Amino acid sequence: MDDNLSFDVVIIGAGISGINAAYRIQTEGPSDVSYAIFEGRDSIGGTWDLFKYPGIRSDSDMFTFGFPWNPWKHNETLAAGDKIKDYMIESARSAGIDHHICYKHRVSEAHWHSETRRWELQVTRPGDDAPVVFQARFLILGTGYYDYQTPLQAVIPGIENFKGKVIHPQFWPKDYDYTNKNVVVIGSGATAVTIVPSMADKAKRITMLQRSPGYIFPLPTNSFFTALLFTILPASIAHFLNRLLWLFKNYFMTLLCKSCPGLARGIIKHVTMKNLPPDVSWDPHFKPRYNPWEQRLCASMDGDFFAAIRSGKADVVTGKIKTVVENGIELESGVSLHPDVIVTATGLKLHFGGGIKFAIDGKAFSVSDRYAWRSAMLHDVPNLLFVTGYENASWTLGADVSARLFVRILNRMRERNATTVVPRLVASENMPVKPMMSLSSTYLKNAGAVFPKGGSGLWSPKSNYFLDMAGAKWGDISKDLEYS
Ligand SMILES: Cc1cc2nc3c(=O)[nH]c(=O)nc-3n(C[C@H](O)[C@H](O)[C@H](O)COP(=O)(O)OP(=O)(O)OC[C@H]3O[C@@H](n4cnc5c(N)ncnc54)[C@H](O)[C@@H]3O)c2cc1C
Ligand SMILES: *[C@@H]1O[C@H](CO)[C@@H](O)[C@H](O)[C@H]1NC(C)=O
Ligand SMILES: *[C@@H]1O[C@H](CO)[C@@H](O)[C@H](O)[C@H]1NC(C)=O
Ligand SMILES: *[C@@H]1O[C@H](CO)[C@@H](O)[C@H](O)[C@H]1NC(C)=O
Repeated sequence: MDDNLSFDVVIIGAGISGINAAYRIQTEGPSDVSYAIFEGRDSIGGTWDLFKYPGIRSDSDMFTFGFPWNPWKHNETLAAGDKIKDYMIESARSAGIDHHICYKHRVSEAHWHSETRRWELQVTRPGDDAPVVFQARFLILGTGYYDYQTPLQAVIPGIENFKGKVIHPQFWPKDYDYTNKNVVVIGSGATAVTIVPSMADKAKRITMLQRSPGYIFPLPTNSFFTALLFTILPASIAHFLNRLLWLFKNYFMTLLCKSCPGLARGIIKHVTMKNLPPDVSWDPHFKPRYNPWEQRLCASMDGDFFAAIRSGKADVVTGKIKTVVENGIELESGVSLHPDVIVTATGLKLHFGGGIKFAIDGKAFSVSDRYAWRSAMLHDVPNLLFVTGYENASWTLGADVSARLFVRILNRMRERNATTVVPRLVASENMPVKPMMSLSSTYLKNAGAVFPKGGSGLWSPKSNYFLDMAGAKWGDISKDLEYS
């Protein structure tokens, strides 16, 4: 493939988004379209290839997180990270997508040229002295939403003084042995909630140190109903029903949280208290300051987080760090902790388009100044589509909405003999600005400065899988889109 420097479509990223987009192009796009996937790493998987911390797993059910075209055949609802990666590799192989992936191809710049009507891509490969230039008629960004090189460095005063080991979950040291170590995990998000029970068995003691609590909800790995469906029905039908079940279950869960926050809060409080030992109080450690689903709700696999607390090896401390000293952490409350290891589960650094520098006819532009048409294309930017998922449902659902939309646009271009398609903001004066990410989590605070803007009508951010998918499959793909 390396002899070929020009493609109809170049997809950047071989994660969930890129693999799924490739599948839709192959199965629903024009039959003679050539495409390649450029992946900076040496493997398929993206997030599931990068993250290796203890216990890494999905927080979403695999029936909606898996690809709709390759049913998740196991009956665990939440899956371990390595199993997800294997599943992605198997999916790409079975669909013949793996032959289209160029590994270790990192795209650093993308320039649109109006006279050739093509994107020119600067691609860095390990053996080359200088970047190689590739051409693409159409570009798809399956680059995810965070920086792979730099994690979010929360301000932890004095952390540089600490003489023990400091680990960021994004770069977990291979085979790191924490047997009999005292561990403090800083953070209260999904990562911390996964790491704490996973390390609890070998560690001497593990403490989750949080500034403020989040919601944690136990989910069974093998639900009785899921297993029953797989036992009595053929696998494909069982998968279909489970997918439908989880789609609606998640949707109604988030809807309940949004429309009756008091009730949702009450239910979660009840379940949490039932799972806590008598000496651990709900207030302040498990009483969030926000309503459920204003920030991500953390799943606890079979309630493992609470089991670790009941076992006495794990505990939760809520408070603000005054400073980290050589041998420990001092809190403003006067309490001090003395870990051997500090794990900073403080979040992801947001990043759009894999850090690629974009330009049109030699003029660089900033993505955050642009409105997004159907959450997928940028105004006044030709032949570029980006893939995003949901924050409050499986990412894959949203990624598939964008991929379906893309193949329809590609087919429309073919019908009209068009070489370019550009979203145009017709009534920009009246367009409100709505953030693409609506959760209030700390790591999303900066989203407005990084991601494109949402607006109203066809420019609204993604909101709901059912409506968004209907829009992608049957909605208007002419309004505010200029084909030429
Ligand atoms: C620890 C963790 C757990 C998560 N759990 C869930 C969950 O349970 N459910 C859920 O819905 N979401 C979850 N997410 C969000 C998750 O990122 C998405 O679900 C999904 O994996 C994203 O897929 P993606 O393909 O869009 O991006 P990614 O998985 O981030 O893949 C992007 C790919 O693009 C490549 N790339 C980026 N820039 C370039 C470039 N310039 N040149 C070449 N290649 C490039 C990267 O190397 C990478 O392989 C989780 C995220 C994390 C970090
Ligand atoms: C489903 O889970 C049960 C245990 O609950 C296990 O015995 C069985 O083999 C699993 N089936 C599949 C298809 O993974
Ligand atoms: C597109 O091109 C083909 C062949 O060149 C031609 O037959 C067809 O009429 C064109 N369609 C449109 C909509 O211009
Ligand atoms: C889910 O998140 C989207 C934004 O990503 C938001 O528009 C929608 O209202 C949320 N749904 C519910 C039910 O909270």
